[in-house]
Amino acid sequence: MKEQLASIRTQALAAFEAAQDAAALDALRVQYLGKKGELTAVLKQMGKLSAEERPAMGQLANEVRAALEEAIERTSKQLAEKALEERLKAEALDVTIPGKAQKLGHKHPMYIALDEIKDIFVGMGFTILDGPEVELSYFNFDRLNAEEGHPSRDWSDTFYFDEDSKVMLRSQTSPMQIHAMDTMKPPIRILAPGRVYRKDEVDATHSPMFHQIEGMVIDKGVTMADLKGTLNTVIEQLYGKGTVTRFRPHHFPFTEPSCEMDIQCHKCGGKGCPTCKGEGWIEVLGAGMVHPNVLRMSGIDPEVYSGWAFGMGLERMAMGRFKIADLRLIFENDVRFLEQF
Ligand code: DAH
Repeated sequence: MKEQLASIRTQALAAFEAAQDAAALDALRVQYLGKKGELTAVLKQMGKLSAEERPAMGQLANEVRAALEEAIERTSKQLAEKALEERLKAEALDVTIPGKAQKLGHKHPMYIALDEIKDIFVGMGFTILDGPEVELSYFNFDRLNAEEGHPSRDWSDTFYFDEDSKVMLRSQTSPMQIHAMDTMKPPIRILAPGRVYRKDEVDATHSPMFHQIEGMVIDKGVTMADLKGTLNTVIEQLYGKGTVTRFRPHHFPFTEPSCEMDIQCHKCGGKGCPTCKGEGWIEVLGAGMVHPNVLRMSGIDPEVYSGWAFGMGLERMAMGRFKIADLRLIFENDVRFLEQF
């Protein structure tokens, strides 16, 4: 039995030494120390020994078991260290390899202009509103005092979804005036930018989809002077102090009186050039005093309240702001163009 124990000890220690990984080592532990292991088998024979032999043999067996257990623990630690080292080596990052350059996105010039405009109006106490692009003709026309038969309702100008001309892509942001009056109480100051749609052929100044910014103020004692003062202030903040504007009489069904505002051409300073088509002026928006009919239909008493409104073309503002000559550049999204701003 003594020899048996000695041989188990040598064999086991050598085997542990040679184990390549934790799984192999564990298998060896079972092989020697497990319930059916080799050392356990020897220990089971202890009972056959004589009373004199037993203590010495018992002690030896315990020493062998302790030696094996100690060797397993040590080897297990070494294997774990080795495994970690190998993993670190395999996962090492070579920080000297140059990175792949990431191209950063860029804000579109039209949105740069829009954000500037929003900032100016928010600073004046306006609330920014968002609304539906698929609109009822009820809001796009009826409530804006453009009754059945008004030329702007024509099928040749408007994208309708149904035969009855009830559902449409909004042709202007003006229905946002109505949504504002239906959901807010005066005093109202809103700015509503968004897409609008018209059956226009694409050219240097037209697109079937473009953007407008609607603005409206409703309060007691609001006059045309407020309209002119506010819009002149905004234009000076956008285009610089001393930018010259002019207001021309015009007609819109939802304002009375109505006007259009022009700014003096930034290219030629009013002398006339290709940018302003020789006019010296560039039209930037329509505006006016909100029509009493529109106020009444929205449940606001025109004897108590008055208001002004405007609708400006956002592309045109951006083109003026950044001196862009062709509207199509704004929609083509050519990075060589976009990167210039
Ligand atoms: N909605 C008009 C258009 O698309 C622009 C406009 C004119 C808006 C006068 C207004 C306004 O709010 O008061 O041509």
